[in-house]
Amino acid sequence: MKIVASAATLLLAVASITQPAYAEGDAAAGKELGYTCLGCHGIEGYRNAYPSYRVPKLGGQKAAYIEIALKGYRDGARKHPTMVAQGTSLTDQQIADVSAYLASIGGDTVAAGGTQGASFDKAATCAACHGQNGISISAVWPTLAGQHEDYLLNALKQYRDGTRTDPVMTAQAALIAEEDLAKLAMYFSSLEGLETTKPE
Ligand code: HEC
Ligand code: HEC
Repeated sequence: MKIVASAATLLLAVASITQPAYAEGDAAAGKELGYTCLGCHGIEGYRNAYPSYRVPKLGGQKAAYIEIALKGYRDGARKHPTMVAQGTSLTDQQIADVSAYLASIGGDTVAAGGTQGASFDKAATCAACHGQNGISISAVWPTLAGQHEDYLLNALKQYRDGTRTDPVMTAQAALIAEEDLAKLAMYFSSLEGLETTKPE
């Protein structure tokens, strides 16, 4: 446990040094494009056909992380076919704008700081980055609190099988014991936080 914690601290240091600068998007310019996105992300409990898990909530997720995620689909770190199709044609500016737009709507609970759930010892290492309440402590890291349980579990499996890659999270996910994967997904989804964005 101690080793894991210090590895996280180290990664934290590395991440803050190598953090690239993210362009400030224009939320108003991203609004039109954002409507397409809400066709899936704005529907409560909407499911991805295969494998069947719910479309992730974006309400309350920060603009910088949404940008990183979109570039991940566009540039190959993330391979989900639907989102790769959504991301491929977007320019950096469009990505910045639509991210600013999506981050500007929804997510009141996250802004309020969420709530801390029953403590779960296995989640202690995750808190270094994803926050004590599952609300991330940096704009470039995702908030996990309130995210759909099946989406979180699938994401952890993707890091472990290489479908999704990230210098920080690939290493973190590899350290999780098999029997804790589902428990961690359940724990973070039970915290108050992210919301399904309501189209205006
Ligand atoms: C046809 C449905 C659909 C549409 C339209 C769609 N998405 Fe997605 N989106 C998904 C699914 C499914 C996932 C989960 C994919 C995965 O597991 O990686 C996802 C994942 C994401 C993520 C990653 C969330 C996270 O927590 O890492 C972001 C960000 C995102 N979408 C933004 C957008 C934006 C911006 C648009 C519009 C340009 C858009 N999506 C359009 C279905 C959709
Ligand atoms: C050193 C920082 C750090 C630690 C510690 C950490 N993570 Fe992460 N996590 C990240 C980063 C950075 C990402 C986004 C990576 C990407 O773009 O794919 C992420 C992404 C995730 C995602 C995907 C979220 C989404 O919306 O798609 C899940 C699930 C996750 N982490 C769970 C965990 C769990 C569970 C733990 C503890 C066992 C943990 N993380 C520990 C930094 C960290």
